[in-house]
Amino acid sequence: MPATLIVGTQWGDEGKAKIIDYLAGKTDIVVRYQGGANAGHTVKVGNDKYIFRLIPSGILYPRTICVLGGGMVIDPDALFAEIGELEARGINPKGRLRIADNAHILMPYHREIDIRSEESSGSFKIGTTRRGIGACYSDKVNRQGIRVGMLYNETFYDTLLPRLIEQKNRLLTRVYDAPPVDLAEIKDKLLFFRDRLRDMVINAPYYLNMELASGKNVLLEGAQGTMLDLDFGTYPFVTSSNPTTGGALSGSGISFRYLKEVIGVAKAYSTRVGEGPYPTECTDETGELLRKAGNEYGSVTGRPRRCGWFDVEVVRHAARINGLSCLALTKLDVLDQFKTIKVATGYELDGKRIDYFPSCNVSKVKVIYEELPGWNEPTSHATKPKHLPKNARRYIEAIERFCGVPIAWVSVGPARENTIALK
Ligand code: GDP
Ligand code: IMO
Ligand code: MG
Repeated sequence: MPATLIVGTQWGDEGKAKIIDYLAGKTDIVVRYQGGANAGHTVKVGNDKYIFRLIPSGILYPRTICVLGGGMVIDPDALFAEIGELEARGINPKGRLRIADNAHILMPYHREIDIRSEESSGSFKIGTTRRGIGACYSDKVNRQGIRVGMLYNETFYDTLLPRLIEQKNRLLTRVYDAPPVDLAEIKDKLLFFRDRLRDMVINAPYYLNMELASGKNVLLEGAQGTMLDLDFGTYPFVTSSNPTTGGALSGSGISFRYLKEVIGVAKAYSTRVGEGPYPTECTDETGELLRKAGNEYGSVTGRPRRCGWFDVEVVRHAARINGLSCLALTKLDVLDQFKTIKVATGYELDGKRIDYFPSCNVSKVKVIYEELPGWNEPTSHATKPKHLPKNARRYIEAIERFCGVPIAWVSVGPARENTIALK
């Protein structure tokens, strides 16, 4: 396949990195196309565990090129920390990392604004990862951002930069009651980044489309998930980018003609971190059981994830928006201990049945459940469909039927080998 997209179908943390790692062995280039260090992408290889924030999850394969796409917001401090951690573990990412010159630089003041905005929002807070994501994307949209490529224009430092910092300082001091930032310090920091990033910077649309034209294959790595999409998620409790298919194209610059397959990653149940509506959330002991069995704690912030049953309407929404070709169903093993398993198969809104995910007033939906029999035995050893208990196979078939999307892989554990190909 020329270009394959991996996208989260729920609220993030679906196990996208595990699936990317599983597929990246045969991939020439992996591209992250949106988001920033709000992502926490876990890859488990043998006894080693890696959590990627900015670097694409394909970096563990020594021949794979990894691109940070133009739709990303890159915190250079976080990037250099991540490069340093990998180097300390014997992996040298430098020669294989490329950075789009139209990606935006996330500055320390973006983090400060994110934190202060959350702290002053009371019950309206979003529950962000506090990594400055919304503040950096706001600057991008407001045309006050700093692109990676701008660092290589000598006039930038004494013309545009002072003006941007002056505006930022007005915002910091007058709105957020924060101390101002120092122009000279910011300038030094940016000059340092300029020198360290120099060898990695590319024109991503040119590079990627050329490589695709010459027969290379590309994996597009989504961060977050469809329900956190700025336009299609549970606004305003979303992230500030588009993790969905449209965002993969605008965030990479790859022509839509190369995109042949869109793989949706869905957990066999569901989770959400942060605030916002969540129709199938279990706030009782079922939620606790799921959290414990699934080890559902944020990989970036360590926050306990909210847990609940699989929601068909959510995944159908993701299938519709992303044009999913197939699903990878992850963390099936987390359901091993349940005698019965509930699946949300529909919604009622204002007393009427609806068969779409509403754009607004999500907290008003009444969820309709079906209860399926559990299997009550371990599944993590399974490497083929026939190794799975009959009721686990029935559960997979039911999800496939309800969602109307074929399930191509089932994941029954965090490691590469805990993956079952169904098709
Ligand atoms: P991502 O952000 O979508 O890449 O997902 P995260 O890495 O934030 O969260 C997924 C978590 O589940 C990680 O700790 C993975 O190691 C783990 N994981 C992935 N697939 C499976 C699975 O099939 N079973 C279990 N038990 N854990 C899994
Ligand atoms: P991965 O890529 C789960 C959530 C935050 C918050 C909202 C906005 O690992 O799946 P932000 O910091 O982006 O402004 O926060 O989005 N969020 C995630 N939840 N997985 C993620 O990434 C997330 N990235 C952001 O918890 O609710
Ligand atoms: Mg994650």
